[in-house]
Amino acid sequence: MRVMKTLLAVVGFTTLVGAAKHQLIVGTFSTNFLYTVEYDDAAQTLELVHKTPTNAASSWISLSHDKKNLYGTDWNSEKPSFVSYSVTDPQTIEYQARVFGSGDCVGLKSIFITPSLQPPYAVYGNYFYGNAKCGNVMSVHDNGTLRDVIQGYEYADGSAVHGVSFSNDSQYLYSADDGGNAIWVHSINPSDGSLEYHSRLNMDEEKSDPRHVVTHPEGQYVYTVLEGTSQVAQFLTNELHKLYPMKAAYPLINDGDKASDYWADEIALSANNKYLWASNRAYDANRKGYISAIEVQEGGYLGKQYFLIETTNSGGFANAVAPSPFDDAIVALTDNSTGFIEVWKMDDDKNGARAVAHLDIEDGGGCCANAVWYS
Ligand SMILES: *[C@@H]1O[C@H](CO)[C@@H](O)[C@H](O)[C@H]1NC(C)=O
Ligand SMILES: *[C@@H]1O[C@H](CO)[C@@H](O)[C@H](O)[C@H]1NC(C)=O
Ligand SMILES: *[C@@H]1O[C@H](CO)[C@@H](O)[C@H](O)[C@H]1NC(C)=O
Repeated sequence: MRVMKTLLAVVGFTTLVGAAKHQLIVGTFSTNFLYTVEYDDAAQTLELVHKTPTNAASSWISLSHDKKNLYGTDWNSEKPSFVSYSVTDPQTIEYQARVFGSGDCVGLKSIFITPSLQPPYAVYGNYFYGNAKCGNVMSVHDNGTLRDVIQGYEYADGSAVHGVSFSNDSQYLYSADDGGNAIWVHSINPSDGSLEYHSRLNMDEEKSDPRHVVTHPEGQYVYTVLEGTSQVAQFLTNELHKLYPMKAAYPLINDGDKASDYWADEIALSANNKYLWASNRAYDANRKGYISAIEVQEGGYLGKQYFLIETTNSGGFANAVAPSPFDDAIVALTDNSTGFIEVWKMDDDKNGARAVAHLDIEDGGGCCANAVWYS
C-alpha cells in the first residue's frame, strides 16, 4: 500500500486523493436495503453514497472471492432463504437469485452466509433460533450467482450455528455452534464443496456459546468468540485437523461486569493478520459494548490483549467489527441500537483505539447489521 501510494503520488494529486477513498456495503436487520458508504482515509469521514432497495433484510452479508457477488441472509422471510446480488461496482448491486433452505432447515431463520474463496466457490449457509440443527451447502453458477442447495446437512439437536470458517487450505470447515456449545469440524469435498462430519469439540465451560470462528491463514490456530462468557478463546489444530483448547482466554468485559449483561459478537483478523479484533455488545441500551484487539504472533499464536474499551453505544444486535483491507489499525463497527456505522483506528502505541468517523443511517431500526469492505 505504501509503495502504491508513493507511485500514485508520482502519477498525480487527483489519483492520490482517489486512493484514499474506500467503499463499504452495509446490511440491515429488518428493512430491505443495502447501504453503500464511503470512507475517506485522509479526511477521516464517512459518507452515504448509495441506498439500494432489496427484497431481503440481511442479518449477514459477505462478498465472493472476486467481489463480483454479494450473498445475504433473508432473516425475516417466512421461508428461510439466502439471496444473491451481482456487484458491478459498490453502487451497482443487483438482485439475482434466492435459494430456499432444504431438509430440516425449513421453518428456521437464516443467520449467516459465507462463500469459499477456493473453486468451486460453494457457499455455506447457517440457521438460528429454535432447533437449528441444520446447515446448507449451495452451489453457484459460473458467474458466482447462487444456484442451488446441493446439501442439507445436520449438526445435532440443540445446535444453532452462528458462524463458520475455512481451514487455511479450504479442506475443512469449522462451525461455531452457539446453541450446542461446541465447535464442529467437517471435511470439504474439493469437487463440489459438500461436507462430511469429522469431529466435534465441546467447550470446557457450560454456556460459553461459541458464536463466530476464525482460522489463521497458516492453519495452526483457530479462534472463537464466546457469546455466553464474553471471551475470546484459541485452539491448536493438528495434522488430523482436531482442535485442542488452549488455556488463556481473553475477556471482553471488565472486572465488575456480568457476562449475563452482554452477548459477545465478533472476532476478525486485521488486513495483514497482525491483530485479532473483537467486539462485545450489551443487552441494555443504556450500557455500552466493548471493542478489543489482541496481538497475533508469528504462526498465529495469540499474545497480549492490547486494550478493551467501551464502544459508543450498546451496539444493539450488532457492534460487528469489520477490519479494513488496507490498514491493520482500521476497522468498521456497526450499531443498530440507534443505527450507525463508525470507523475506528488503533492508537499508535496500541494501548487504545478511537472512533475517527461516524455516520448515522436512519432507516427505521434496521440498520446496521454487518459491513463488508469493498475496497
Ligand atoms: C449468471 O449466470 C446465470 C446462469 O447462466 C444466468 O441466468 C444469469 O443471468 C447470470 N447473471 C449475470 C448477472 O450475468
Ligand atoms: C495449512 O496448515 C497446515 C497445518 O498447520 C500447514 O501444514 C500448511 O503448510 C498450511 N498451508 C498453507 C498454505 O499455509
Ligand atoms: C435492532 O435490530 C433488532 C432485530 O431486528 C430489532 O429487534 C431491534 O429493535 C433493533 N434495534 C433498534 C433500536 O431498532
